[in-house]
Amino acid sequence: MQTTDSVFFISGGASGLGEAVARRAIAGGAGGVVIADLNLAAAQALATELGDRAFAVEVDVQRTDAIAAGINAGMEKFGRLHVVVNCAGIGWAERTLDRESKAASIDNYRRVININLIGTYDVSRLAAEQMAKNEPNADGERGVVVLTSSLAAFDGQIGQAAYSSSKGGIVGLTLPLSRDLSPVGVRVMTIAPGLFDTPIYDTMPPGLKEHLASTPVFPRRLGLPDEYAHLVQTVVENAYLNGETIRLDAALRMAPK
Ligand SMILES: NC(=O)c1ccc[n+]([C@@H]2O[C@H](COP(=O)([O-])OP(=O)(O)OC[C@H]3O[C@@H](n4cnc5c(N)ncnc54)[C@H](O)[C@@H]3O)[C@@H](O)[C@H]2O)c1
Repeated sequence: MQTTDSVFFISGGASGLGEAVARRAIAGGAGGVVIADLNLAAAQALATELGDRAFAVEVDVQRTDAIAAGINAGMEKFGRLHVVVNCAGIGWAERTLDRESKAASIDNYRRVININLIGTYDVSRLAAEQMAKNEPNADGERGVVVLTSSLAAFDGQIGQAAYSSSKGGIVGLTLPLSRDLSPVGVRVMTIAPGLFDTPIYDTMPPGLKEHLASTPVFPRRLGLPDEYAHLVQTVVENAYLNGETIRLDAALRMAPK
């Protein structure tokens, strides 16, 4: 599917990886980009910077009604939807037992699953409903769904029970979702990023980000958000990519901690 003239819906599009996808899509001639984010002010600031083909909507991916309203607002603005990129997500670290052997909060676990996993499925299923209305291209394609997992799906570290569960769930979702959507010509691909330089690390203790930047095998640095956006573009444009998870991680394998 061409990225040029296509309409994108990007959850978590106001920051980090999602923001980079929005910027690359606009630079590549997308027909429209819906920046859907909990942080409406940041989404609006980015949309204003990117111009007429960008449109901000406030969406909390924990709420089905808010997702549906955001997708409908995008349909009203641009009239169609071809590519959904799921970038809304939160990091979380909490050991299952703390130093006093007290069990972790189940509410925190539920919250991470709600946002990262259930929110991803909810956005994807409602976006696919709109994509199914598109005229197919010569290859029979009507749309592309991109999911964002993480290295933590495979190499979960100490404290990552909730986060790794949510990201492993996305890996597990990839093949059945691509099979479910194949009758309407919608492909599904998952990207599992390594360590990317985004605001998700802003709350980390001093020095930890610098340490993390030294851990990838090659290149030995954090990933650039545009390197993630570049892979999204490739996924959209290469019709033979479907039902698979791609690690984008400079050969990094995470240690237990
Ligand atoms: N940065 C990394 O190294 C890295 C690595 C692996 C996976 N990821 C994943 O990539 C995705 C994007 O991460 P990022 O690094 O760009 O983070 P980020 O914090 O820069 O951006 C995340 C965006 O999601 C939004 N968001 C959070 N909760 C939301 C909700 N309930 N509804 C709607 N929007 C919500 C935030 O407002 C923010 O704009 C996340 O799913 C993250 O887990 C990031």
